[in-house]
Amino acid sequence: MPGTSTSHERRQAVRTGVVWSAVRDVLDAPDGSSGEPARIIDIGGGTGGFAVALAELGHRVQVIDPSPDALAALDRRARERDVADLVSGQQGDLADLADLVDEADLVLCHGVLEVVDDPAEALATIAEVLRPGGHLSLLVAQRHAAVVARAMAGHFQAARELLDADVSTSSRGGRRFTHEEVLGLLSGAGFGPSTVHAVRVFADLVPGNLIDLEPGAATALADLEQAVATRPEFLPLATQLHLLAQH
Ligand SMILES: C[S@@+](CC[C@H](N)C(=O)[O-])C[C@H]1O[C@@H](n2cnc3c(N)ncnc32)[C@H](O)[C@@H]1O
Repeated sequence: MPGTSTSHERRQAVRTGVVWSAVRDVLDAPDGSSGEPARIIDIGGGTGGFAVALAELGHRVQVIDPSPDALAALDRRARERDVADLVSGQQGDLADLADLVDEADLVLCHGVLEVVDDPAEALATIAEVLRPGGHLSLLVAQRHAAVVARAMAGHFQAARELLDADVSTSSRGGRRFTHEEVLGLLSGAGFGPSTVHAVRVFADLVPGNLIDLEPGAATALADLEQAVATRPEFLPLATQLHLLAQH
């Protein structure tokens, strides 16, 4: 995302770079918003990392989130970056989305399917508010990488339990998904074929101080993340999966 300079921002840019460039491609595509500002809903948008950056591109973004603290931080961030007129925050739950918003060109659902009561119902609700041909940007935690991470941290029992989990299992830190499970959920909610990106294949494994101390490391790592994002063999190693699906 634009304007990254502090250590935290550099690391955040490495983590979000793949998703950010995929979302920008959708908005720039001829069947996206055709150069017009898009109507974007960021469900569970939290403090607005994506919402504010999208507003800086001229799009109108509505953030729905149950957390008043997150919405207050969103409001501050939007005012600081001078896009308060393009960003609105509203307290609410994904389950009530259809009552809270009008039709959207793009819905972001990043890091939320893990914690909702029913992921299938959540995707059907999102489908209801998308215009025909509109896009969903879906970011979910990926199960196989989480099994490896738990084992590497010495939590062997937790790794074993997660290995046998499925989408109906909500563990510590929320539900996790395989690519096949997400594809099944998307098609069940009426979404068409999707593209998938592997997200944070290396970013969570690399020591933070390496990114801070080694000149150019953050840029090189972001480039590496981008290079593996579309290689299917890296999907099971990714901390998160990003899917773009059209309705
Ligand atoms: C892991 S954070 C992700 C924040 C942001 N989307 C991002 O990617 O940085 C999950 C967000 O979902 C929100 N959330 C939790 N349950 C929700 C629900 N049922 N409906 C909508 N948002 C929810 C939380 O308040 C939080 O802001």
